Amino acid sequence: MSDRTSFFARNKAAIAVAAVAGVTAGAYIYYNAVSQSQTSSESGSSATGASPEASKKKKSKKKKSASSKKSADEKTEEAVEAAATTAKLYPVVNGLPNISEETIANLSEKEKEEWAAALKEDGNHEFKAKKYDAAIAYYTDALRLKVDPVFFSNRSACYAALNDHENVIKDTSEAIKLKPDYTKCVLRRATSYEILENYTEAMYDLTALTIYGGFSNKSVEQLLERVLKKHSIKVVEENLKNRVPELPSASTICSFFGAFVQETTPEGISEESEGADKFLFDALKNLNYSTAEGYEAADTLINQAVAAYNVEELTNESPNAGKAAVALEYSASIKFLKNDPTSAASDIEKAIALKPRPRTYVFRALINADKSSFTEANQDFEQAKKLNPEFPDLYYHLGQLYYLTGELAAAEENFTRAKELNPDNVYAYIQLACIKYKNGDFKEAEDMFTAAKLKFPTSPEIPNYYGEILADRGDVKAACKQFDTASRLQKALPTFSVGALPLINKASFISREGLEHFDEAEKLLTEACELDPKSELARISLAQIKLQNDQVDEAIVLFEESSKLARTIEEKVQATSFAEATKMQKRLKNDPFLTAKIQEAMAARM
Ligand SMILES: *[C@@H]1O[C@H](CO)[C@@H](O)[C@H](O)[C@H]1NC(C)=O
Ligand SMILES: *[C@@H]1O[C@H](CO)[C@@H](O)[C@H](O)[C@H]1NC(C)=O
Ligand SMILES: *[C@@H]1O[C@H](CO)[C@@H](O)[C@H](O)[C@H]1NC(C)=O
Ligand SMILES: *[C@@H]1O[C@H](CO)[C@@H](O)[C@H](O)[C@H]1NC(C)=O
Ligand SMILES: *[C@@H]1O[C@H](CO)[C@@H](O)[C@H](O)[C@H]1NC(C)=O
Ligand SMILES: *[C@@H]1O[C@H](CO)[C@@H](O)[C@H](O)[C@H]1NC(C)=O
Ligand SMILES: *[C@@H]1O[C@H](CO)[C@@H](O)[C@H](O)[C@H]1NC(C)=O
Repeated sequence: MSDRTSFFARNKAAIAVAAVAGVTAGAYIYYNAVSQSQTSSESGSSATGASPEASKKKKSKKKKSASSKKSADEKTEEAVEAAATTAKLYPVVNGLPNISEETIANLSEKEKEEWAAALKEDGNHEFKAKKYDAAIAYYTDALRLKVDPVFFSNRSACYAALNDHENVIKDTSEAIKLKPDYTKCVLRRATSYEILENYTEAMYDLTALTIYGGFSNKSVEQLLERVLKKHSIKVVEENLKNRVPELPSASTICSFFGAFVQETTPEGISEESEGADKFLFDALKNLNYSTAEGYEAADTLINQAVAAYNVEELTNESPNAGKAAVALEYSASIKFLKNDPTSAASDIEKAIALKPRPRTYVFRALINADKSSFTEANQDFEQAKKLNPEFPDLYYHLGQLYYLTGELAAAEENFTRAKELNPDNVYAYIQLACIKYKNGDFKEAEDMFTAAKLKFPTSPEIPNYYGEILADRGDVKAACKQFDTASRLQKALPTFSVGALPLINKASFISREGLEHFDEAEKLLTEACELDPKSELARISLAQIKLQNDQVDEAIVLFEESSKLARTIEEKVQATSFAEATKMQKRLKNDPFLTAKIQEAMAARM
């Protein structure tokens, strides 16, 4: 599920050429940058990684060779030697050590050391022979003689081999208590936590490892990312259990309906109608407003219309079939926007059974494309074409499908047709310009934007998307001018179109230019959140600024709100992973040992 990028998500990303993808990618970079700025890089790694482990190893070898007066290089020799040592030093019964408390009480400190070392060696020997229970007995006795993190580590390796992860966690935790930067144990514990699906603990350990490794260890980073993702998916799934489907941001709805030909009032209904007809009329009227309130009202009214038409009882012969089908079609599209594709599909099937229009098939095509059923989607487009080969929306969405699958030539053809058939679809102009840009023809794209601006002088969409392209080329100044124009045009409109997008775009691009722009970015994004309270993008962007300003708690809340607002699972998981990563950083700051490590690394860097 997680690697399925839904059509809708990509659809949105394609419309917002650079910004949506850019902001989210920026967030990842940002998270890493934060971690990196808090710690050092290469210079810190000498005190970390496997090196303390390695020096320990050398020491224990020395100790052993001193006591046995042998040079132990070969593994076989080591084994023989260990067995010989055993016989000499401590009582053995049935191949296992049998050391009473009394015996221990009698030993000198030096003898305890020697016995413990010998027991450990024998434990290693058993471990190599895969006799894990025996190895555990040896290490356990070694621990009775000497509390040593290495023995805990050794025994945890046995438990790991036996898949006894609770005990792995117990032993590694003991080892880590004795030696906090015992990386081998931290990694082993993280692995067990991950297996037990205790992801937050696994993340904590892996984050600590990245600090010890001075952020230069890619494999740990990948592990961390993997666990973070698993954890975030779990959190999102948990949240979804109690989810009430909600409408997305008004600008999302507006750009969705904006790509369709304006709905004319169905025949036979008017302001004076009553009952179901009146509900449908009012629903369409409210959709016409293109405001957040209008969409909320339309949602309720469409449901009332569907109920009042008594759609379950209707047949395609019923006089109300056509109007009921229109109501069902809108009900389906609203459910689709609420990310409830199953209910959406059910409504659209009913609409098709009653009285399909070309648009009904186009809606079904979108629902199918969203679940990656592209063959079915294409069949739907064919059906729409059969009903009306001149239906503009069909070509626009077909173009969109090709655009997203990277077939730009086919997309261009279809967008061109869509534009010819419905010269009022501003998105067709924008997409055509974007294709030119994607094909490397910036000049042509620019000309197309200029021409579109003449045709749609009050459309905030054009400067907004033109701005994205300028920003993508690195001309942030020119881009900001376009974003300002877009914001101004949006403010002048009674309806929603781009909503807060130009504000978000401007904020995200200027904040990449440097820290000195953060205050302005914060102001813009705060405004964006107010303007479009349902914009998950505004929240996730503001959260990043808050994080940069060390307002960690506010950032967490904003990330979580963004996750709740996001329509797709992918977006939810991403916002949640930022929230969870931030929580992890907060927890890290409360750990004095890790904080000291971070400071140490920073000092080493200076
Ligand atoms: C271990 O030694 C004790 C005496 O110290 C003895 O009583 C006990 O039976 C021994 N255990 C085994 C398993 O032989
Ligand atoms: C402990 O040491 C004492 C004195 O050296 C000895 O008498 C006793 O037998 C020892 N006990 C054990 C269990 O080794
Ligand atoms: C026990 O620890 C030593 C020293 O770190 C190591 O060389 C050895 O491989 C470990 N054995 C096991 C079974 O983990
Ligand atoms: C994860 O491990 C920690 C520490 O051992 C424990 O406190 C917590 O309850 C565990 N959480 C889950 C979900 O098992
Ligand atoms: C990265 O970390 C893992 C786990 O601690 C370790 O096994 C590996 O050797 C490290 N790699 C480098 C290049 O330090
Ligand atoms: C919505 O707007 C369109 C275009 O302006 C118009 O034709 C239609 O009648 C309006 N619908 C309603 C229900 O007001
Ligand atoms: C849409 O694209 C497809 C695939 O290239 C093509 O076969 C079809 O002719 C296009 N439609 C129009 C109207 O250009």
